[in-house]
Amino acid sequence: MPAGRGRRQNEKERTMKMEKLGRNDHCWCGSGKKYKQCHEAFDEKIHHFELEGHMVPTHEMIKNPQQIAGIRESGRINTLVLDYVAEHIREGMTTAEIDRLVDTKTRELGGIPAPLGYEGFPKSVCTSINNQVCHGIPSETDVLKDGDIINVDVSTIYNGYYGDSSRMFCIGNVKEENLRLVRVAKECMEKGIEQVKPWRFLGDMADAVNRHAKENGYSVVIDIGGHGVGLEFHEDPFVSYVAPAGTEMLMVPGMIFTIEPMINMGTADIYVDDSNGWTIYTEDGKPSAQWETMVLVTEDGCEILAH
Ligand code: MF3
Ligand code: CO
Repeated sequence: MPAGRGRRQNEKERTMKMEKLGRNDHCWCGSGKKYKQCHEAFDEKIHHFELEGHMVPTHEMIKNPQQIAGIRESGRINTLVLDYVAEHIREGMTTAEIDRLVDTKTRELGGIPAPLGYEGFPKSVCTSINNQVCHGIPSETDVLKDGDIINVDVSTIYNGYYGDSSRMFCIGNVKEENLRLVRVAKECMEKGIEQVKPWRFLGDMADAVNRHAKENGYSVVIDIGGHGVGLEFHEDPFVSYVAPAGTEMLMVPGMIFTIEPMINMGTADIYVDDSNGWTIYTEDGKPSAQWETMVLVTEDGCEILAH
């Protein structure tokens, strides 16, 4: 998840498959170089962490420069679409209008909205208002009203590569406690981004997110997380925002995933709307806020590919 993937799916596949590559064979990354002059030492470093009992990425989770360039472009388009939403979103607008803005702008920029038809999702964007946590479906009858907080989650396919990010928007006069939730949710994402560094763990990032949420009296949704992204909409690994530091998967250069914690004002409990099978609500009816960014792990930290 998001998007219906179970937590911990493919757990076994997370374990690095040590390929029986000869040192003079072509490297698995597609560079055309000999393995010993390319990723051999890198793989050995990863294997060392695996022997220590850590979860480590498979080669499929590590993107090559050509893939990174394509995914970066898709992320750029995704960001432009969200900028366009930011310019036009306003009180009185329906979420179906937001859907049309996103669909039109995405296609104008040469992309395809990834949500449309994804596992049966009926619209081109997710719009989640107030106590909706995520996966809200745009509708002609949902009108943005004064005081609403809304997450607009945009995902793009561009030249076959995927981009994914989301932002919160505050409509009219939002009450102070909800403004604070929106602000702290953004800070949670930012604190997570600060922890994205090679040879550290996804749990380091999660712990930073969770601590900041807790310190502010909020809770982090447990069962829905982030995901690898780029060649597909949702790839491994599952990205938790409640794990302890030093746990979860090792981060290595070339991995691309989302940081998209859902921060609840009340309890972390959620439920799915039975009537559409998609929309997630807070169990206690209190508001939830989410910001999403897409990051590339680099040699010395990370690069934001979409925001
Ligand atoms: N954009 C969401 C995410 O951040 C996924 C939405 S799946 C959809 O992962 F089908 F609802 F679009
Ligand atoms: Co996502």
